[in-house]
Amino acid sequence: MNFHIMTLFPEMVMQGLNTSIIGRAIAKGFITLEAVNIRDFTVDKHKKVDDYPYGGGAGMLMQAQPIYDCFQAVAAKLRPGVSPRVIHATPQGRVFDQELAKELAREEELIILCGHYEGIDERVLEEIVTDHVSIGDYVLTGGELPAMVMVDAIARMVPGVLKNSESGETESFSDHLLEYPQYSRPELWRGKPVPAVLLSGDHAKVDKWRLDQAVCRTRERRPDLYRQWKEKNS
Ligand code: 6GU
Repeated sequence: MNFHIMTLFPEMVMQGLNTSIIGRAIAKGFITLEAVNIRDFTVDKHKKVDDYPYGGGAGMLMQAQPIYDCFQAVAAKLRPGVSPRVIHATPQGRVFDQELAKELAREEELIILCGHYEGIDERVLEEIVTDHVSIGDYVLTGGELPAMVMVDAIARMVPGVLKNSESGETESFSDHLLEYPQYSRPELWRGKPVPAVLLSGDHAKVDKWRLDQAVCRTRERRPDLYRQWKEKNS
C-alpha cells in the first residue's frame, strides 16, 4: 500500500512516521510513504500558497492551483488505471474509526490532503477529493497530525505490517469491545498480585475471565460501545 501525503510540512509527517512499527513496515517494503510539499507546485513568484477569502472573514485560505498541480503530479506517477481515494483531513468529515481504517487498508494507493490556515478553496476540493475525514470533534491547526494518525491506524491493518505477536484482530474495538487488562512480571508489584486465574494454566478459564473483563471495562468506560456490543450479542 502506498501513502501519498500532500502537505505544507512534509518533514513533520515523515519524521512522525519513520519510527517503530511503521518505520519497520516502510523499511521492509510492506508500505511506502511519501510526503509531497504543496509549496513546490505554486506558480507564484514569491512561492505563496494562500490568499484572503472572498467575502471577507478571518484568516487565509489555501489556494486551488498549488494543490491541484500537486495532486496531478502525484496521480501521474501511479500505475495507469488506478483511481485513488483522496482523503481530505478536515473536522468537517466522517469521523475516522477502526472500521474505516480496515476499509482503507485494502486500497492500493491512498492520497491524503492536509489543510492548514483557515481552510482550502472549495473548488479544488470538489475536483479531487473523494472522502472528507475527521479524527474527532476538536479543532487542530492543520491536517498533518490527523494524516499521521490515519496512516498509522491504516498501515497496521495492512497484511505483514504487524507480526503475529502484535495481531490487529484480538484487541480493542474488534467486536466493539475494549481490550482486557494485561499483566507481566513480577507476580507481585507494590503489594499488587497478578490475578490468580492468569497463573492457573487453564486456558478456557483465562479466556472467560478476559471476556468478562473486556465487557466490564467497556460498560464502565465506553457505554456507547457497550450498547453496540450488546445489540450484536443479544
Ligand atoms: Cl482530520 N483535520 C483538521 N485540520 N482538524 C481536525 C481534524 C482533521 N480532525 C479533527 N480536527
